[in-house]
Amino acid sequence: MSDLRSLTCIEDLRKLAQRRVPRAFFDYAEAGSYAEETLRANRNDMEAINLRQRVLVDVSARDTATTILGEKVSVPIALGPVAMTGLERGDGEILACRAAHAAGIPFTMSTLSICSIEDVAAVVKNPFWFQLYVMKDRGFVRSLIERAAAAKCSALVLTVDLQVLGQRHIDIKNGLSVPPSLKIKNLINMVSKPRWVAGVLMGKRWTFGNLDGHVKGMAGARSLAQWVGTQFDATLNWKDVEWVKSIWPGKLVIKGILDPNDAELAVKTGADALVVSNHGGRQLDGAPSSISALPKIADAVGSEIELMFDGGVRSGQDVLRALALGARSCLIGRSYIFGLGAAGEAGVKRAIEIIRSELDVSMALTGLRTIQEITRDALAH
Ligand SMILES: Cc1cc2nc3c(=O)[nH]c(=O)nc-3n(C[C@H](O)[C@H](O)[C@H](O)COP(=O)(O)O)c2cc1C
Repeated sequence: MSDLRSLTCIEDLRKLAQRRVPRAFFDYAEAGSYAEETLRANRNDMEAINLRQRVLVDVSARDTATTILGEKVSVPIALGPVAMTGLERGDGEILACRAAHAAGIPFTMSTLSICSIEDVAAVVKNPFWFQLYVMKDRGFVRSLIERAAAAKCSALVLTVDLQVLGQRHIDIKNGLSVPPSLKIKNLINMVSKPRWVAGVLMGKRWTFGNLDGHVKGMAGARSLAQWVGTQFDATLNWKDVEWVKSIWPGKLVIKGILDPNDAELAVKTGADALVVSNHGGRQLDGAPSSISALPKIADAVGSEIELMFDGGVRSGQDVLRALALGARSCLIGRSYIFGLGAAGEAGVKRAIEIIRSELDVSMALTGLRTIQEITRDALAH
């Protein structure tokens, strides 16, 4: 793709990714769990929030820059952790990290990435964030934390909403597997995606880079669900958060909070931030949309801890809505994964630029010049 300027919104990136990424991996990124009620609610509730149009305010000098966890950012978004990014496009984690850093925002690597912590650290200059899933083998969890510290990761994002896996029907139907299954049906679909084949099938990284060779029993697992079922620790509780905090030297973010009571408990751990999130509608189906949960959590703990938000952010207008309801920043998931599938590193850059420019224009049209000026007053009541 020589000119990405004709891709003017995240939906354009989504459509192109759908053409360029094999079906099993595109569907994996797009889907939600079970009947996808929460997935749909994330978008429907977001779209139902009206912004307040203000006029005749001098908005000639505007700035979308702010800080997240004390780090300077050009726009209040970060790339959230997305498992198997490197199967949406070869070396996807490296490409996404480079794009994020070039745009002046953080990148979060998932525990279940394809490139390893060391693969990415070897080729990027600035620190990235690492997302942790706690597995039963605490010796291995400790070693993952130590590897993230050795790679100078600047924040650890502890995900607390996936101790069992919410089922995505489509992944079962597609026979999703890591490494990619080379059954005839999948192969036919894959060979019609030359960019993907060049990057993934001809590349050298096909499996979970952080775990391969470190975790026993991966090879025998038939599916991600089965593997999570045997490895992830369903006993995970608040005491474990204390343990993680005691061995991680940097900033700690708790991801997956949807209830004000849990938010209060998260504050008590002394974590630096929490992410209001329902895992992009991929875990508890029937849970409220994250945008509807945000104001209650902001009222409960917004003055005590830095609040991040994710779930359904597809535009700069959505970032403005979340900030107006009390978030300091947003993680984006699918929005950048679609950019990656559509056009690699340039596609991720394009996704970030689309959201940044939409936020900038929407700030102007709501009469706001800086991120600090965004309050609930930015919403039409
Ligand atoms: C394909 C996919 C894989 C994900 N993998 C992880 C993961 O490994 N760890 C994690 O904490 N969250 C994971 N998430 C959740 C995202 O970090 C984030 O919460 C969610 O994507 C936000 O919703 P959005 O996609 O609507 O922006 C994943 C999301 C998607 C779409």
